[in-house]
Amino acid sequence: MKSGFLLYQNQELAALVEPLLAWYHANRRVLPWRENTDPYRVWISEIMLQQTRVEAVREAYVRFIAELPDVRSLARVSEERLYKLWEGLGYYSRARNLQKAARVVCEQYGGVFPSDAQTLAALPGIGEYTAGAIASIAFEKPTPAVDGNVLRVISRLCENPTDITTPSYKKEVANVLARIYPPTDRGSFTQALMELGAMVCLPGGAPLCERCPLFDLCRCGRKGTWERYPVKRARPARKVEHQTVFLLWCDGKIAVRKREGGGVLQGMWELPCVTGELTPEQVRVRLCAWGITGKPMAQKTKKHIFTHIEWIMHPYILQCPVRSPAFTWTEPDAVALPTAFKKIL
Ligand code: ADE
Repeated sequence: MKSGFLLYQNQELAALVEPLLAWYHANRRVLPWRENTDPYRVWISEIMLQQTRVEAVREAYVRFIAELPDVRSLARVSEERLYKLWEGLGYYSRARNLQKAARVVCEQYGGVFPSDAQTLAALPGIGEYTAGAIASIAFEKPTPAVDGNVLRVISRLCENPTDITTPSYKKEVANVLARIYPPTDRGSFTQALMELGAMVCLPGGAPLCERCPLFDLCRCGRKGTWERYPVKRARPARKVEHQTVFLLWCDGKIAVRKREGGGVLQGMWELPCVTGELTPEQVRVRLCAWGITGKPMAQKTKKHIFTHIEWIMHPYILQCPVRSPAFTWTEPDAVALPTAFKKIL
């Protein structure tokens, strides 16, 4: 297929740099990770912002940085505390990788972040996107960070017909952008591309073309064809899984246990649960096996969506006369409970 960038012949893509930067400096959101360009802070924010909304990240980011202000404190913190600080953000493997990478930075780089994207990308949990973001925002390197926002902006600008989910297209966009980086203010340029995607060139609805600094350069803008771009292959449908979940109380504490089995939320605290929708008789037998008697109350079904799987949760609540030794009993706020279970609490 002919490259969308070859189709974009009349204007040089480089013409977007100046208006975009001017727009960014006038309109950028005040966000806690934009207070300075310390690589540690940039890194934490970029990992948190993956697959998570800015609004959900704000508070968690401030809390995290206040308690773990540098790479050494992150390398040292207990896993339990780290999960607690990560609560609400989901995808806990990101937190585990953060700590692994912090330890590598401390042990191999004397606690000083490497400044080039290639070395950064070799650290646990840091892919090309994050490496590009850190290298440009913290070290002023001409390394783009191509996320969904940037892909959408560029695809619309060029009316590029390529499926944006293909890795080769992402690479192509990164290569094209790397060539047009300005000589200074490179971190702003990286963030400006993301910001335009988040604030103006919106997904899932009409973009705010009348506010766009790139309107005159944009093929979709001029022709009103934004609805057709970016081209994106449909995701396969999520697998639906039923879960019977038990909220067991005893003296103000709830029963939790560590999640096993290699599926989602591996290693996290969970409310006791069983895959499938149990019948009332099966519920009784299950509770009996845990040494618990009493009549549980069925609650309204709750839904939780993970990346590849959707849970329909069938909750039961029960006040237990004694604490079954099958579980850990804790105050609900004392452990990091994944959001799926929080919905039942
Ligand atoms: N999404 C990903 N990185 C971001 C950043 N630095 N600012 C705002 N939104 C983002």
